[in-house]
Amino acid sequence: MADSTRFHDITYVNDGHIRRADIIVEDGIITSITDKEELANAEGIDRLLLPGVIDDHVHTREPGLTHKGDLCSETRAAAAGGVTSVMDMPNVVPQTTSLEALRERQAMGAAHAFVNYAFHFGATNSNAHLLPQLDTTRVPAVKLFMGSSTGGMLVDHGDALRAVFERSPLPIMVHCEDSAIIAQNMQRAKQLSGDDPDVVHHPEIRSREACIASSTLAVQLARETGARLHIAHITTKEELNLQSVAEGGTAAVTLEACLPHLLFTSDDYASLGTRIKCNPAVKTAEDRNALRQALADGRIFVVATDHAPHLLSEKQGGCARAASGMPMVQFSLIAMLQLVDEGVVTLPRLAELMCHNPARLFAIEGRGFIREGMKADLALVRRRPWTLTADDVVSRCGWSPLEGRRFNWRVEQTYCNGRLIYDKGAFAETNEHACALTFSARR
Ligand code: DOR
Ligand code: ZN
Repeated sequence: MADSTRFHDITYVNDGHIRRADIIVEDGIITSITDKEELANAEGIDRLLLPGVIDDHVHTREPGLTHKGDLCSETRAAAAGGVTSVMDMPNVVPQTTSLEALRERQAMGAAHAFVNYAFHFGATNSNAHLLPQLDTTRVPAVKLFMGSSTGGMLVDHGDALRAVFERSPLPIMVHCEDSAIIAQNMQRAKQLSGDDPDVVHHPEIRSREACIASSTLAVQLARETGARLHIAHITTKEELNLQSVAEGGTAAVTLEACLPHLLFTSDDYASLGTRIKCNPAVKTAEDRNALRQALADGRIFVVATDHAPHLLSEKQGGCARAASGMPMVQFSLIAMLQLVDEGVVTLPRLAELMCHNPARLFAIEGRGFIREGMKADLALVRRRPWTLTADDVVSRCGWSPLEGRRFNWRVEQTYCNGRLIYDKGAFAETNEHACALTFSARR
């Protein structure tokens, strides 16, 4: 059945421009864009079309942790947030660290994902020999925990670490926190504050030194091996200069920033407590402001969420006991649009960080841009000031660290492969529209 949608006189953001145009989508593809007028900014604009957001850092929790969320629930949350593609993390049960587990997850994606999907492969101390066997057209990256977090996937043997860098045919996406430094800090905090120190101590335990030591080592390994390095969730101002450290070597390094570290500061632990406990920790206002500056000046290449849902009951306790991570995929686009309104980034830059650059980095085929011939993954947002409450949360966990915040924009409609999959609170009845992401040759 032929399927077509027309956006008449729509303002859209793409490739550095804000333009008014007529756009036609036919059978899942953007077939015609008739530009009419170039705009300097979106001031006074009520309705805006963006490429669907591509989130390279999502934990859907399926299989094995589905009381927190599953592929269906968390990708519906993504759709409600204008996110049309997610890359899912391997710290599930069983971990995505064998070819068999990867194949099983890809089958689960085909059965249950409500937006386009791909699964990162997880590195371990003993699976580097599998990396050359990965299907690089289906897997976006190798996820490497150089620091333990939820799921215990730490790679901490020097030889194993080097082997991952040497053998990966794919970008290596690294969680950088030095476990020895964290263990020492935790021991000291426990001596001073008891077995489960209050969450205000989280950034002292998961300290900036732990981040910097680990990410510096990752860059060094990338330089030595020529691996393609993507450092996940940068949290300190010092790490923003890592790319210049990499220059002159053979390393290509990109930095990801995640919403928790762009929205919160250590001052927020007092009011939000463990809701904003995540790894790496939310750090100082100075760090957050430096991260925001780096969004604008290009040192940050990708903005993602590290969407990591846990039940509120699992968020009880302090640094030792409370689970780390927070849900975010549903609200990343509107939170970034808020930063546009606050003058932190421009609208075209937002599209670079959340849509174009993830597509470029992973060489995603046919997505990430509003161009003729591209797949029609689109987010339509409207300027409709509103206050977020727990009732708005689609994620299974049912809460958000953003409850009570006011936002200027609302996601009104989301299109995935040309299909209207989210329309003012209503979801498409099936997930037939969702596709596995495919990637062209890269490293
Ligand atoms: O805060 C975090 N939560 N950091 C991680 O690295 C893992 C994630 C999770 O899976 O809960
Ligand atoms: Zn993560």
